[in-house]
Amino acid sequence: MDIETTDPTEAPKGMSDLSDERLAAQIPLRHSVRSFTDRRIEGQTRAALQRFVDECNERSGLSLALCTDEPGAFSSLLVRYGLFRNVRNYIACIGAQDQDLQERVGYWGERCVLAAQALGLNSCWVGLTYSKKKVAVPVSAGQELVCVIALGYGTTAGKPHKSKRALQVAPGVEGSPDWFRRGVEAALLAPTAVNQQKFAISLDGDEVRFQSEGGAYTKVDLGIVKAHFELGAMR
Ligand SMILES: Cc1cc2nc3c(=O)[nH]c(=O)nc-3n(C[C@H](O)[C@H](O)[C@H](O)COP(=O)(O)O)c2cc1C
Repeated sequence: MDIETTDPTEAPKGMSDLSDERLAAQIPLRHSVRSFTDRRIEGQTRAALQRFVDECNERSGLSLALCTDEPGAFSSLLVRYGLFRNVRNYIACIGAQDQDLQERVGYWGERCVLAAQALGLNSCWVGLTYSKKKVAVPVSAGQELVCVIALGYGTTAGKPHKSKRALQVAPGVEGSPDWFRRGVEAALLAPTAVNQQKFAISLDGDEVRFQSEGGAYTKVDLGIVKAHFELGAMR
């Protein structure tokens, strides 16, 4: 008689579907989480996330690096007295220096965030409160480490951020097509540095235009917002 055993490290059934539809479904569920349990990212879950990150690198030319069981970058006193607790895993967002590096990191990094959420993980983008020098992967000459994304099994699922209203970021949203409204709603759920939401979205004929008010991390924010808009508009 065959006895089916379940590997406790296996990603729950259905979760390994990391299609755009599945990523879009994570948008309302994702919130920043800064405190993690000791549970390791391993087995099928780690393998599925690694495959997803590899695919993003192939498509974007970035060098996003999944680092697991590497607490070093979050272990200094400064970091420990901050908001983060027990960060042992992260994605180091690395790429060749060029004008649109920050925006591409935002776009592809956020797709990894939503994939991680689909795999039952929690996350938080981190621009400042980690130790750059202790990141576990080398940054080659001509490359830049833009930021990291903390990952793990959260002690909570986080909570929704305070948000601007659709009309504040997209003045023409009333009377616009449904797909555009859905895109704007998904963009408002995007993580942005210090929740600044310094972006504007407009529709010019059939073309969607994105603008950023400028400032720290707003280019990364804009890439994240574009990823959310695209997934939201597609649903
Ligand atoms: C580019 C970027 C950098 C961020 N850097 C930090 C950081 O250094 N420390 C931190 O605690 N949160 C950081 N965050 C998380 C934001 O504070 C968070 O996304 C925002 O408050 C919205 O909340 P939500 O992600 O729960 O929707 C960062 C977010 C982004 C997009």
